[in-house]
Amino acid sequence: MSDTTTAEAGADPTASEPPDKAPISRLWAYAKDHVRLLLIGGALSFGGGIAGLVQPLIAMEVIDALSADDSLRDPLLLLAAVVVVGGTLSALGPYLMQIAGQDVVLGVRRSLVGRLVRLEVAEVDRLRPGDLVSRLTSDTNLLRTVASTTVIGGVTDAFMILGGIALMAWLDPVLFGTTMAMVVMVTVTMMFILPRIQNATRDSQKALGDMGSLLERIFSAFRTVKASSAEDHEIGKLDQAAKTARDRGVTASLWEGLAGVAAWMPINIAFLMVLGVGGARVASGAMDVGTLIGFLLLLFYLMGPVNGLIASLSQLQIGLAAVKRIEDVAGLAAEESGNGEAPTATGPARVSFEDVRFRYGDDLPFVHHGVTFESSGKGLTAFVGPSGAGKTTVFSLIERFYPITSGAVRVDGRDVRDWPLADLRETIGYVEQDAPVLDGTLRENLVMAAPDATEAEILDVVERARLAELVGKLPEGLDSAIGYRGTTLSGGERQRVAIARALLRKPRLLLLDEATSQLDATNEAALKQLMLDAAERTNVLVVAHRLSTVTSADQIVVLDTGRVRAVGSHAELVEQDELYRDLAAQQLLAVAE
Ligand SMILES: Nc1ncnc2c1ncn2[C@@H]1O[C@H](COP(=O)(O)OP(=O)(O)O)[C@@H](O)[C@H]1O
Ligand SMILES: [Mg+2]
Repeated sequence: MSDTTTAEAGADPTASEPPDKAPISRLWAYAKDHVRLLLIGGALSFGGGIAGLVQPLIAMEVIDALSADDSLRDPLLLLAAVVVVGGTLSALGPYLMQIAGQDVVLGVRRSLVGRLVRLEVAEVDRLRPGDLVSRLTSDTNLLRTVASTTVIGGVTDAFMILGGIALMAWLDPVLFGTTMAMVVMVTVTMMFILPRIQNATRDSQKALGDMGSLLERIFSAFRTVKASSAEDHEIGKLDQAAKTARDRGVTASLWEGLAGVAAWMPINIAFLMVLGVGGARVASGAMDVGTLIGFLLLLFYLMGPVNGLIASLSQLQIGLAAVKRIEDVAGLAAEESGNGEAPTATGPARVSFEDVRFRYGDDLPFVHHGVTFESSGKGLTAFVGPSGAGKTTVFSLIERFYPITSGAVRVDGRDVRDWPLADLRETIGYVEQDAPVLDGTLRENLVMAAPDATEAEILDVVERARLAELVGKLPEGLDSAIGYRGTTLSGGERQRVAIARALLRKPRLLLLDEATSQLDATNEAALKQLMLDAAERTNVLVVAHRLSTVTSADQIVVLDTGRVRAVGSHAELVEQDELYRDLAAQQLLAVAE
């Protein structure tokens, strides 16, 4: 059942693992900057432990003093001091190690955020955001324990075990051999169990990611889910994912438990065997009783560190599972920011496509089969064509959201691949087809493309995009929250917000993907005016769905199935191009009405 859920939740491209880059060395890379703090914390904890050990010794002093009728003052003061210092160290040491653990998590999260936000658009097309969120929050959290107490605890335990073993070898080689047989047994069992802890943890974390994805899927189309009465269905899927996470978590715990048993059992068997073999040797006079007792005490003493080491190794597996999921993201392609200098052009930007061939993926059909057009100087260029012709794709390629297969996309005569990305995009104001608005205030939405905009500039674009009325209506004006994806706005309002945002960037090239029928007649007329005003100063490219827009255009590019059919003015195209005539008669007019 669980696998069905996973499959239904969509293919997980991040699961296509990059060749194993030794996760343990990745973990070390995360932790190495914080080793000093870890060591200090470890040393303080150790000091706290020593203080705990000497406490009874000093208590003995107190009792001796009591019976000898000596002054109690000095031993009592000493005892008090040891208690206070020991307590402080025992609290401070783990605290410092926890800080180091949090610092490691912070570092990983920072680098992950930096990566996620800079991913290529094509990568994000395939990804499930909910799963990425769980990698950033839940998986990184698993690193905290590993990077703090586990490492130090494991290393201390390992040293204590090594010391104990050396002592055993020195005490009696035969008993040492008996014990070593058990050590080998523990090691072999652990080699079997530890990878299973890691796998189960990874599966469980993956199920958490699936849950995140499913939830994100529901909230991104919440009204549709409700309108489709799909709540029960969606709840069922989430429930299944939650159950999968639980089951796999239980499996991980089972293996962890087995690891504990697997450590405990052989030590106890060793205890019995040493008792047996040692007893026989004592009886035959090959060994004295004192050595046997010393050996048994050593074994007894080693139980703690062995259990501790096994627990640390189990914990390490959990951390490694998290590292793998985090590293999957690091394997995704981020955008190249590009180098070189931007052209120092001013005024309207020039755009040209030269025989551009493009497809969204190597396994997908071509969307552009050699698109060629040019648009220079101020003015309005309209793109028309049937749905799916590749109009929106033209804008995506100008923004360099995707790499083209062949040909060239140029802005200001320079191939977009040779532009520094930030400069290229700074040149452009882009209004997407579905006019996205982000969670936050209206002001945040406007200035995100131009953080340095002055109040006067903001008010100016608000006026020009005909948002003034909306701003007046909102309880806190520009500082009103407009909800997740701007749900509290109408479609037309969202579009005007997107236009205002693009204008605030003072672009030299304005790309407008007109949404159909989002605007009423008054606003449409106003926006057409705004577009024409902008076209007075800059180069405006618009995907047109309205006849009023195309008739005002200086140039119309007719796209059909990834090819430019015709270029010309409205009058010319009505005259010459059959498809355009049909479009104008049916599609554009229908919308205009
Ligand atoms: N991100 C994408 N991944 C894969 N295919 C896409 C993607 N975006 C668009 N397409 C496909 O590319 C073709 C052209 O899309 P588009 O440029 O959006 O057309 P339109 O002219 O309607 O704006 C369509 O067949 C569409 O299915
Ligand atoms: Mg489109």
